[in-house]
Amino acid sequence: MSNILHIAYGTQTGTAEELAFDIEKQSKEKGVDCQVFELDDITMDKLQNINKLMIVTSTTGDGEVPDNGISFWENLSASTELSISNLNYGVLALGDSSHYDFCNAGKIIDEKLKDLGANRIIDRQECDFDTEGSMEWSEKFLTLI
Ligand SMILES: Cc1cc2nc3c(=O)[nH]c(=O)nc-3n(C[C@H](O)[C@H](O)[C@H](O)COP(=O)(O)O)c2cc1C
Repeated sequence: MSNILHIAYGTQTGTAEELAFDIEKQSKEKGVDCQVFELDDITMDKLQNINKLMIVTSTTGDGEVPDNGISFWENLSASTELSISNLNYGVLALGDSSHYDFCNAGKIIDEKLKDLGANRIIDRQECDFDTEGSMEWSEKFLTLI
């Protein structure tokens, strides 16, 4: 079981990636051991062997998960049982409310993790168009993890 905070980003045009690395810096400054991953690097095996996860994901297309998170989402959504009761997580969702499915990728991942029995330690943050409020949210997340 890994105690390292995994910061996993799903991005289409780089915003969530940049944010994930900003949060990595913030975490390290606060003495929280962490590592950044692309969402697709989080296999279902890995998911069952970590206990701290922050997901930072945008939404693309019509409410879709970004390209570098598609396999993660396919595997997660197809799962009916995972041993993730030790997994503490939070989701930071980037989107744009002028689109029909605002922050949908963050929403479906957040809800599926919860349904599978993981512990949501903080309510999902939804950022409209920019990343306002995200560093305050991650600061709070870091006090709860
Ligand atoms: C082609 C395109 C499709 C998008 N579709 C959605 C969407 O369906 N829902 C939403 O909330 N935001 C949508 N967005 C907004 C992005 O999620 C938002 O701009 C985000 O900050 C981009 O982050 P990224 O650079 O990490 O991909 C879309 C943006 C683009 C360019």
